[in-house]
Amino acid sequence: MTLSRLSYVLLILVISLVRVVHSIDFNYPAVFNFGDSNSDTGGLIAGIGEILNPPYGVQYFKSPEGRFCDGRLIVDFLMDEFDLPFLNSYLDSVGFPSFKRGCNFAAAGSTILPATATSVSPFSFAIQVAQFFRFKDRVLELLAKGKKLDKYLPAKDFFQNGLYMFDIGQNDLAGGFYSKTEDQVIASIPNILVEFETGIQKIYDQGGRRFWIHNTGPLGCLPQNVATFGKDPSKLDELGCVSAHNRAAKLFNLQLHALTKKLQTQLTDANVTYVDVFSIKFDLISNYPKYGFEKTLLVCCGYGGPPLNYDTRISCGQTKDINGTSVTAKGCEDSSEYISWDGIHYTEAANEYVASRIITGLYADPPFSDKMPFVLNLKF
Ligand SMILES: *[C@@H]1O[C@H](CO)[C@@H](O)[C@H](O)[C@H]1NC(C)=O
Ligand SMILES: *[C@@H]1O[C@H](CO)[C@@H](O)[C@H](O)[C@H]1NC(C)=O
Repeated sequence: MTLSRLSYVLLILVISLVRVVHSIDFNYPAVFNFGDSNSDTGGLIAGIGEILNPPYGVQYFKSPEGRFCDGRLIVDFLMDEFDLPFLNSYLDSVGFPSFKRGCNFAAAGSTILPATATSVSPFSFAIQVAQFFRFKDRVLELLAKGKKLDKYLPAKDFFQNGLYMFDIGQNDLAGGFYSKTEDQVIASIPNILVEFETGIQKIYDQGGRRFWIHNTGPLGCLPQNVATFGKDPSKLDELGCVSAHNRAAKLFNLQLHALTKKLQTQLTDANVTYVDVFSIKFDLISNYPKYGFEKTLLVCCGYGGPPLNYDTRISCGQTKDINGTSVTAKGCEDSSEYISWDGIHYTEAANEYVASRIITGLYADPPFSDKMPFVLNLKF
């Protein structure tokens, strides 16, 4: 064995040991999350009284649990990594939910820009931020009254030391394409980000200091968008994704990244981390066999068969009359082979993979390598 080959083998050995050991100490007492369906743990369902049916949730919770997935979301896997319990939704009032370790303001379908009459979710970003302030005021008020609720509510200092996470913007872009040209969607990005910045600044002004911002994924690779906007093959890239949507997502991310840099400069006593989820998801879709997946654009829970198994008329779990026949959009046999759960949302298996990449810190700017000194953290 040559020396360079040997050192390569050693390097791989060290990396695999680090992966097994998992000794990143994130040290967040609580997490406050804002976003859309990518991180909604029950907000939309509770907030508008929508009903989500099985097979949603079948893979892990055995019931939908308010998540647009067959199981856990990226945020659930991240909470595991932080050694914190799954986040309860701010809007979910039934069953005495504990908010001790944080609260989730995300709601499926939410946009950064204010909701309109046709929006899926009325809980746009500014509303989520307002809900957070109401949450914080109420918590401080209740804590001041006595100890009885300590068990369910974050301590006062958790608001300063907690992590503020964001994953929102996908619906502003994806929704835009239904009524706008690509140029118009792209031209709307600066306005969307002004609204986003306003929310972050408000949270900072109220004492938030640790920010973690996910960028938006490759929207053009969502089977829903391929089915709707990709009928003409010239609109698709070599992976079968809608080129215009991915171009818009990349431009959004470029400007979002610049905004996080600007915020980091302005908010000197805060930490603003940008996380490149797009690259992780795009790499997964490009190289799926390498990561143990068998299907990229084929939907697990849908209707219509290959190549997409997605029909805009009927969503996962629904039974409907189509052409005079009653049909059901059912789940596939083994969702762990699939990336797309229902044409819009990723499977639990894909979410687990994405979360495992996020926590390496390699996709973060600044990378959180300072929190994971590779060699020092080794425990033999
Ligand atoms: C920001 O990160 C630096 C470097 O890791 C750390 O020393 C500091 O305590 C962090 N500040 C906050 C508010 O988390
Ligand atoms: C429904 O019927 C129309 C008209 O007969 C036909 O063109 C179409 O392919 C049918 N669609 C399905 C999903 O069977």
